Amino acid sequence: MKSKLIILVMMVLIVLSFAVAEVSALSSEESAANDILNKNSTDSKVLVVYFSRTGDNYNVGNVEVGNTAMVASYIKEYLKADSFEIVPVEKYPDSYDECTKKASQEQKDNARPQIQGKIANFDKYDTIFVGYPIWWGDLPMIVYTFLEDYKFDGKNVIPFNTHEGSGDAGTYTKIQSKLPSAKVNTNGLALDGKTARSADGKQQTIQWLKGLGY
Ligand SMILES: Cc1cc2nc3c(=O)[nH]c(=O)nc-3n(C[C@H](O)[C@H](O)[C@H](O)COP(=O)(O)O)c2cc1C
Repeated sequence: MKSKLIILVMMVLIVLSFAVAEVSALSSEESAANDILNKNSTDSKVLVVYFSRTGDNYNVGNVEVGNTAMVASYIKEYLKADSFEIVPVEKYPDSYDECTKKASQEQKDNARPQIQGKIANFDKYDTIFVGYPIWWGDLPMIVYTFLEDYKFDGKNVIPFNTHEGSGDAGTYTKIQSKLPSAKVNTNGLALDGKTARSADGKQQTIQWLKGLGY
């Protein structure tokens, strides 16, 4: 009886440990991206700023590293640049539907959602890559917060984005008109979510960077 109970307890523990592993499992690509994004090299003049959502996402399932964050990691790795993630003070819902509702309301309100933390020494960077997903045919409103929070005079700004069909949705020229004192490169990179997460997406990103002269 006692040994049966021990076996039962062990089986429950094994099942539970699999369940925990499932919940916290990062794919190897995601964990590589996290490693890259969480390190900053101090003497770089290039900064990769990105906003990207985790959770339930269109066409790619439930992700722990967002599509745009994956592309940001390729740029950061290739250029050995610094990076800053735009993290909202109020987290967006993990549920895709809930998030679309919230984003739609923010757009109607012309909201400026607050960002956690500040970029140290923004002045020292001469080139800022700015990455984001298309939300309702536009930049997520929190990216407008970022564009308004810093001085971009004379800086090179290079946008990139991910999407599910809208391409860049005219956002590169919107950034240019928002930042008249910066040099915005409207030859940005727009990748759909699945491509952004693939080896092909990484190659396309590197080709794009080479095309920009890097
Ligand atoms: C709130 C919301 C609105 C979206 N609106 C659009 C859109 O208008 N056009 C489009 O192509 N994709 C749209 N998408 C899809 C995202 O742009 C796409 O899944 C993107 O790769 C997500 O990037 P992320 O994982 O970095 O957040 C939307 C997604 C969300 C969550």
